[in-house]
Amino acid sequence: MKRIGVLISGGGTNLQAMIDKQGSVIKSGKIVCVCSNSQDAYGLERAKRAGIPTKVIRKNADCGGDTEEFSRRICAYMKEMQVDIIVLAGFMAIFGGELLREYSNRIINIHPSLIPSFCGKGMYGLHVHEAALSYGVKVTGATTHFVNEVVDGGKIIMQKAVYVEEGDTPETLQRRVMEQAEWNILPETVEKVCAALDGKE
Ligand code: GAR
Repeated sequence: MKRIGVLISGGGTNLQAMIDKQGSVIKSGKIVCVCSNSQDAYGLERAKRAGIPTKVIRKNADCGGDTEEFSRRICAYMKEMQVDIIVLAGFMAIFGGELLREYSNRIINIHPSLIPSFCGKGMYGLHVHEAALSYGVKVTGATTHFVNEVVDGGKIIMQKAVYVEEGDTPETLQRRVMEQAEWNILPETVEKVCAALDGKE
């Protein structure tokens, strides 16, 4: 059983999808902690409700805006909780070298588009769906990938396509991408990576 640490910044619906699928889809891992870079993240409530330990580490207020210090502190917490794999579930901050080195090939991110479209710096949350609509694509989706030093540039693990519909707003498109893609491929990806680390594949 692999120990999973989740990093969040906001609503935490992807965290909820993982919590709900523990034991059914996610069988080779267990969420052991949730860390947020914002104390207002609703995802913290979701974690508490599920009995999962939480911690808040803020880049500015706790680390003087220093990316390396921020990264060191997250890394220290993950190690303290004996985390094997880290999942970024709507985590909107960039971190630095230490975490990447310590958890190389063990950090997963979910991005709300079909990478390499609409990704990279500044492309997060609703901005991604605004960009997809303003470009006029008819198909978008979500991607899970390993995290490396290139923003949204690590090896792709899973993707799922979602149709754009007439009259979509960034909000309606975001919701459909979550429902049809993100909440499915993230738990499936987590299971795949945990099982592989467990030597089952
Ligand atoms: C999700 O759509 C996730 O894919 C996206 O933020 C949202 C978080 O929602 N992540 C990124 O844009 C990362 N670049 P949630 O907090 O409800 O899971």
